[in-house]
Amino acid sequence: MNVPTTEHGPAVAGFPFPFSRDQYRYSTNVEPSGTSHITAAGLWGEHRIVIDQNYHSELAERRRILDRDPSRHQCLEHMTPAAWDCMLTVMRDLAREHPEIMSLERTDSRWRWQNALLSVDDHFVLGDLSTLPAPPLVYIGSQIQEDVVLLDQRENQLWADAGLVTFAADWSFGFDVGMSFLQIHGPVPRVHTENVATRAQSFLMRLESGQSYRRTNWTLTVDGKLDTSTETYPDWGRDRRTLADGPLTAVGDRLSLRTEVQHLVRLANSDAVMFLIRTYLLPFRELATVPEWAERTHKVLEDLPFDMAEYKGITRTREPAMRWLRTYGGVSL
Ligand code: HEM
Repeated sequence: MNVPTTEHGPAVAGFPFPFSRDQYRYSTNVEPSGTSHITAAGLWGEHRIVIDQNYHSELAERRRILDRDPSRHQCLEHMTPAAWDCMLTVMRDLAREHPEIMSLERTDSRWRWQNALLSVDDHFVLGDLSTLPAPPLVYIGSQIQEDVVLLDQRENQLWADAGLVTFAADWSFGFDVGMSFLQIHGPVPRVHTENVATRAQSFLMRLESGQSYRRTNWTLTVDGKLDTSTETYPDWGRDRRTLADGPLTAVGDRLSLRTEVQHLVRLANSDAVMFLIRTYLLPFRELATVPEWAERTHKVLEDLPFDMAEYKGITRTREPAMRWLRTYGGVSL
């Protein structure tokens, strides 16, 4: 497990608290990956793929979602080599970082992958689908907690042409597949006038083989739901209203700060860009055990302009969040 030990429990100690200032605005907020961020409660970021205390429960959740809705996995035909490349890159990462429980070996054209956490011991031939129990993205996606999107670079643009996304925050991979990077960011306010999307795309297109960067994104999520994709809106949309209309005492347990740690990696063999999205949910009751986080979260929520709050879907929940932080979370004005 990649979980730091401090006086806090693992969920708090390993939480990637996303705010480095008291104000949040969009920017091309990328940094090289692989170094740890020390936070007020612990640290995060040492590894690109993180295995934590939720490994088994999140993988079971992904399996349930995929069984119900296979469209969460998409791989346009020309992306098959990239999917294999992604699978092998992730296996190499895992085997390097967890040699006691995971290993990848090669004998001629046959590979052997072992993952003791899931009692997996499989042999495969790279590129031969018949040797894997599932397509490469589904196979590796059932062994890591991260969502993944693969982008093809052509015609001087990036195209989201493959992926496995079960924990989307208010978007749909099934809808976005095949779209360009700029089209996907079309609904995001401000990023076009402030050139964030075009600058981000130029940056990504210049990534060199093996280079790896990361950024964070955040929102608020009710009732610990990882799957808040467009497809399941009927299951989670009303939670925001019931939270806002319900008792304030419930907010500490029902509302979570949701951070996505996103990695951007140029795959060495296929030249595709691998976009890993790892979702962390921290209930406000636990967030408030770190006074610096409670204070800062309150300031960021209070300051966030309406269009950004609306796009993030937090116009109903940010008021109760702030009220709870002041009433029960130790925040004084
Ligand atoms: C440097 C890289 C990137 C930057 C700076 C960036 C920036 C952003 C920002 C600011 C948002 C709005 C988030 C919010 O308010 O919650 C967003 C949303 C989003 N981004 Fe990115 N992004 C990057 C890379 C990517 C990549 C590689 C993909 C892969 C396809 C992607 C897919 C999305 C999607 C699907 C959304 C939600 C769009 C919707 O609401 O329909 N982003 N991005």
